[in-house]
Amino acid sequence: MSSRAVEKFEQTFAHWLGVDYAFSFWKGRVAMYAILRALGIGEGDEVILPGYTCVMDVNPVKYLGASPVFVDIEPKTYNLDVSLLEEKITSNTKVIVAQHTYGCPCEMDGIMTIAAKNGIPVVEDCCLSLGSKYKGRTCGTFGVASYWSFQWNKPFTTGIGGMATTSDKELGGRIEALCKEELEPPSRKSALMLSLQRLVYGLLIFPRTTALATSLFRWLTKKGVVVGSSSTSEFVPEMADNFLAGMSAGQARAGLRRLRKIEKNLAHRRKMAQLYVDLLREAGWDVPDVPEYMDPVLVRYPVRVADKALAVARAPGRFIELGTWFECPLHPSETPMRLYGYHEGACPAAEQACEQVVNLPTHPRANERTASRSVAFVTEIGAPAQEA
Ligand SMILES: Cc1ncc(COP(=O)(O)O)c(C=O)c1O
Repeated sequence: MSSRAVEKFEQTFAHWLGVDYAFSFWKGRVAMYAILRALGIGEGDEVILPGYTCVMDVNPVKYLGASPVFVDIEPKTYNLDVSLLEEKITSNTKVIVAQHTYGCPCEMDGIMTIAAKNGIPVVEDCCLSLGSKYKGRTCGTFGVASYWSFQWNKPFTTGIGGMATTSDKELGGRIEALCKEELEPPSRKSALMLSLQRLVYGLLIFPRTTALATSLFRWLTKKGVVVGSSSTSEFVPEMADNFLAGMSAGQARAGLRRLRKIEKNLAHRRKMAQLYVDLLREAGWDVPDVPEYMDPVLVRYPVRVADKALAVARAPGRFIELGTWFECPLHPSETPMRLYGYHEGACPAAEQACEQVVNLPTHPRANERTASRSVAFVTEIGAPAQEA
């Protein structure tokens, strides 16, 4: 089913990352599913994930009959707390998912050491961390495999889209076989609609218009008019018929165009993050230091506020592009978390982050003015008591 554009995008992406194999998919979650399937995950197995993620990142585990096991996060980086990892490992643990949240690299030395000691493969969730580095090495090259998302809000977008990468020949062979045997091409209608949506996105979506556009987009998705990032059938842990879809040529061409400008995109995001740090510090906020061995490229800049509900309610009227990731440990708030094995209180640091964290844009359409308006806005809302 693969077109030349798709093959070229896969090869170019693999080359950019410095890995041997890349396989493209309709969405990042399909890439994760393919990796887990290729690793042989099934009934009775356990997959460790941070309890601060998107439900679409948990669905593939459930689709395979395995159980997600949630580890609480470290409150400054929002990543899996390595000091809590080992106690979650059992004889059924088959994978550890290292999600580089917001683009901040996980403590890979600690994770890799524990994983090696217990003989468990690490899969990196790089959906939010394109270009981030840990001790000089690019995120996505530590684990046995990694997956990536090119959805609207991600480091670069093909509308929606995903990639699985690995340098493990055997695993790569198994993912390739799965793609050949089971992956369906996306429907012509969806691929065409997505091309149209990319065009509209390019013309209309800017930090000041995002809130309005997002509400309209969600309404149109519910009506089935546009291709949404997630459908209602994805809020239950059962795989829908059309889940296993590949990437369209249009998505791949968009990906190739974005990849050509990737270094500029990453430099811009680094600059935006630094602006947020400087402006927040000027305003007297306690901004955590990033360890010098980490070089994060943030997909969004996370910041804790005193009243998240107020901030979220007020932002659209002020034309502020305010993100809500993550609204609950298995974002979004509609997720029936018990069906996914998450029980309230399981990850207290993550739950507190869900109550407090909003995020600000770092993407190429955000600029210095966006940063100063956004910081003025969050400053007006105020920092949580312990951080003020
Ligand atoms: C951390 C994380 N991992 C994986 C995914 C899944 O990516 P996609 O929407 O491309 O399926 C998402 C977003 O939905 C995410 O936020």
